[in-house]
Amino acid sequence: MDENRSFPPTKEFSEKAHIKSMEAYKSMYQQSIQDPEKFWSEVANDLHWFKKWDTVLEDSKKPFFSWYKGAKTNLCYNCVDRHLEGPNKNKAAVIWEGEPGEEKVLTYQDLHREICKFANGLKSLGVKKGDRVALYLPMVPELIISVLACARIGAVHSVIFAGFSAESIKDRVQDSGAKVIVTEDASYRRGKVLALKEIVDLGIQDCKTIEKQIVVKRHPHKEMPCTMQEGRDIWYHDLVLDQAIDCPAEEMDAEDMLFLLYTSGTTGKPKGIIHTTAGYMVYTYLTSKYIFDLKPEDVYWCTADIGWITGHSYIIYGPLQNAATLMVYEGAPNFPDNSRFWNLIEKYKVSVFYTAPTAIRAFMKWGDSWVDKHDLSSLRLLGTVGEPINPEAWMWYHTKIGAEKCPIVDTWWQTETGGILLSPLPGVTPTKPGCATLPFFGIEPAVLSEEGDEVRAGILSIKQPWPGMLRGIYGDPERFKETYWCKWNGEYYFPGDGARKDEDDYIWILGRVDDVVNVSGHRIGTAELESINIEHSSVAESAVIGVPHEIKGQGLVSFVTVKEGKIADDELKKALNSLVAQKIGKFALPEKIIFSSDLPKTRSGKIMRRILRDIAEGKALGNLSTLADPSVVEEIQKQF
Ligand code: WT7
Repeated sequence: MDENRSFPPTKEFSEKAHIKSMEAYKSMYQQSIQDPEKFWSEVANDLHWFKKWDTVLEDSKKPFFSWYKGAKTNLCYNCVDRHLEGPNKNKAAVIWEGEPGEEKVLTYQDLHREICKFANGLKSLGVKKGDRVALYLPMVPELIISVLACARIGAVHSVIFAGFSAESIKDRVQDSGAKVIVTEDASYRRGKVLALKEIVDLGIQDCKTIEKQIVVKRHPHKEMPCTMQEGRDIWYHDLVLDQAIDCPAEEMDAEDMLFLLYTSGTTGKPKGIIHTTAGYMVYTYLTSKYIFDLKPEDVYWCTADIGWITGHSYIIYGPLQNAATLMVYEGAPNFPDNSRFWNLIEKYKVSVFYTAPTAIRAFMKWGDSWVDKHDLSSLRLLGTVGEPINPEAWMWYHTKIGAEKCPIVDTWWQTETGGILLSPLPGVTPTKPGCATLPFFGIEPAVLSEEGDEVRAGILSIKQPWPGMLRGIYGDPERFKETYWCKWNGEYYFPGDGARKDEDDYIWILGRVDDVVNVSGHRIGTAELESINIEHSSVAESAVIGVPHEIKGQGLVSFVTVKEGKIADDELKKALNSLVAQKIGKFALPEKIIFSSDLPKTRSGKIMRRILRDIAEGKALGNLSTLADPSVVEEIQKQF
């Protein structure tokens, strides 16, 4: 709260940046707010359109906004084909390194060929425009190729993070009605081999819509024999073998669905966030250009997984539209040792590096010696995303990794926003450790009270629609309205974060104000865990909360009461943990499970999660007289 340090960009950086001064930012920002249609129309002209739009923003069906209505375009075309005429044709698009150390480079021309072949392969299986294709793949080039191949033919991709369990695959495939799923025989993680196809086989057992499973072969058959189901399963390499190397890019309507990405909310059921073509395209293009200041000579590395929105927008779509060279690394940061990331930066001369606070905190904990052994002088810009970054981690990043010369862009956004809404511009904004600072073009944030008054500390809201915003929740338009557009009479978008505006009008994100917890940048709804706990036959009631965690940012604590005659012991803890691993994935395991005879409740029976949070954080509890039975508090406190 009293962080006063400020770090302006160096003169050298600003002079070469796309946007060079605060005056330039302010004047563009004013234009973008006063006449958004003019602004968004001008910037869209950088991209390729089969047909231009009739209107830039159509808001008559608020909150169901349309952008670039009447236009026809294709996002894969803008990521790849657009660069084939001219100097970028033979430029590296993707430099990939596998965890075991293999290297692969795809130029823009190579990428085009591989995408076309796979797109033709998908078509040969009967995949058409509008069909959903699920992708359950680790960070291999085939994932990037599959995503872009879907976009090319107008199929809707639904990437499922490859750490999710079989049951999560099932939920997502059933909700989206996917026709095809793409996976790999087995992935590498921290030197271990994980049989992915087996997980998918289990997950799609009861998914009637799945017609084909495409399997990328990573391991020799001897090491990873796979059972291929006759008529359903097909090898990726067999599918692409004889396909033509050209596949026309489908002319998509501006509001045609581009992808679905499932994310957690405040209920037990993840929601399929819908992003559409043209607005998302323009927004990821422009934010990448200005926030990462991308230049042809950059080697850009975003360490996120493509299974999350960061990987969609800022590994694939935004940077490729800017003809960037991506470095993509498959594996863990601590394999074979803690210096793998620094080794990669040095080896490939990475210049723009975008990672998460949880990773930065882990690096700090491992100690500086891993960093000191490496030459990181190629770096010129650093970024962070996913959760609030604590000032110590920010300072370490700034001094140790950025050698005090690289600007840090702390980018705030969400799966739903499609792209970054708040961030410094690297050549412009004096940064403050832990602060996401100022809005991007076209974004009008306000910090409001519950009643809708502007306040210094309160709830973050966004006043105007922007092109990259979600268009809905798959199959549930009502939930879309209720979740994001019901607070403050539907006048503002409600992201679910708390925020504070300081004396420079910089915005500081204070964390979620709803029951969503951010564990190592993975978003988990506490309601999802509660409903899993309650599924166990011994459990009577459960409440799950987020607590501060040194490395992960937040961790989960599960509070459980058992039914009459049932035993609360370590066996039950184990059983509950294995349920979570089975239903979501290991990344959602709680730090702690606490048993008690009851949970703190109001007299009307509402569980007081605030008190549980205060107990877990060791805070003073204040007045407990509203509780039906204050004695449970002591019983729980003893266990911390
Ligand atoms: C939530 C969205 C955006 C891609 C990764 C996460 C938190 C995100 C920041 C930041 C403070 C942040 C918010 C947000 N968050 N970036 N720079 N500073 N908090 O996407 O899974 O949709 O989660 O992550 O709480 O609402 P997501």
